[in-house]
Amino acid sequence: MARARVQFICQNCGSVHSRWAGKCDACGEWNTLVEEGTSGGIGSGPASARKARPGRPVALTTLSGEIEDAPRIASGIDELDRATGGGFVRGSALLIGGDPGIGKSTLLTQAAGALARQGHRVVYVSGEEAVAQIRLRAQRLKAADTPVELAAETNVEDILATVADGRRPDLLIIDSIQTLWTDMADSAPGTVTQVRASAQALIRYAKSTGAAVVLVGHVTKDGQIAGPRVVEHMVDGVLYFEGEGGHHYRILRTVKNRFGPTDEIGVFEMSDRGLREVSNPSELFLGERSARAPGAAVFAGMEGTRPVLVEIQALVAPSPLGTPRRAVVGWDSPRLSMVLAVLEAHCGVRFSTNDVYLNVAGGYRISEPAADLAVAAALVSSLVGLALPADCVYFGEISLSGAVRPVAHAQQRLKEAEKLGFAQAVMPAGSGDVAGGIAARSFQPGALADLVARIAGSKRGRGED
Ligand code: TYD
Ligand code: MG
Repeated sequence: MARARVQFICQNCGSVHSRWAGKCDACGEWNTLVEEGTSGGIGSGPASARKARPGRPVALTTLSGEIEDAPRIASGIDELDRATGGGFVRGSALLIGGDPGIGKSTLLTQAAGALARQGHRVVYVSGEEAVAQIRLRAQRLKAADTPVELAAETNVEDILATVADGRRPDLLIIDSIQTLWTDMADSAPGTVTQVRASAQALIRYAKSTGAAVVLVGHVTKDGQIAGPRVVEHMVDGVLYFEGEGGHHYRILRTVKNRFGPTDEIGVFEMSDRGLREVSNPSELFLGERSARAPGAAVFAGMEGTRPVLVEIQALVAPSPLGTPRRAVVGWDSPRLSMVLAVLEAHCGVRFSTNDVYLNVAGGYRISEPAADLAVAAALVSSLVGLALPADCVYFGEISLSGAVRPVAHAQQRLKEAEKLGFAQAVMPAGSGDVAGGIAARSFQPGALADLVARIAGSKRGRGED
């Protein structure tokens, strides 16, 4: 008789180990390995013990053919539709991940209300909150009068039997995937096996009926329950809802999208009556700017198709330590080291006895290399103690040789800057044939050293620059 095999599954990344260890080799998280049985469920290997069922032929079909409904259902909440690439896609599964308390249920309640108002059938299944709690939230969001159908349930088979009744829902929201359990798997709810098997059943439901399914997944730090990463590869789209503690705005970031672009963001602000759309994020990120302080530079960035202006703040201060500190919030730390090294090697600027702190204002996170030039400008400005011109934006990539390299979308960046009242730009030479007033007043350094000389030189000719 075959001995029941024991395996340990990382609750963060889902990798399978034959022995327990304190740290998962695959993702490096600590204390995330949990013992799970191997009988049944997804990932349990070939079911040699179970009786094999003879295969049944499926009907093959053509690429062209009838599609009954509009393939997308747009919620009318522009920032959400932008992140999903134009609305929820019928017959697909979308995962919305985020820290607990960030506003996932709030966003989905608002979306559910908006869609139900348009006449779509929306079913909201919560495994976390009681019906009364959800009603209270809906009242607060002014969505209580919408015909959203609500249930508090955690068993997948029961949920699927419920939605099979009556008209097929256009949208099925499951809040959250970690509370679900299915009869198919026998480990505890919240474990990788249960989360995967439940997600699999719901994805199958979406594909076979054409309903759009949205799964909520909590990002977990302690590994007590499986994280959303274990289902990322199974779903058609993954959105992460992010925000910084202490700030009211939230960013919905597309990480995976089989039906649209993945570099879009939606920006919201959490208010006492739910999430408010922020259609011009630049105004938000530049809101608290102190223009005359040294060490601040405005970066003209892009998020997908949309320009976003954000302030980069640097503080360079003499260090009491042998190894000076380098701290970064909102940007890549190796990238900062690179910009510092280029400044030292090619521009004769010394940071070796200084602590360097870099912060992207408002808790925003930048991933574009185009921010290099703005970071360098902020660093030099702080080091020499001279404020940069308040009406100037910066963008451009810096290469290891000290050259300033062109980046895409120069025209759009400049347009946004001009719209927000900026009058000049520092950008790479040869940024396409950009036109407009601000482009005419731009400084286009070929090398980073030119920009450093200009900032340091403004000591003499202050007010000119
Ligand atoms: P919630 O949507 O429950 O978060 P999640 O589902 O991601 O865990 O949002 C919880 C937080 O949002 C909570 O701290 C209260 C706050 N909130 C508001 O500030 N305004 C509102 O209108 C609502 C509904 C929630
Ligand atoms: Mg919630």
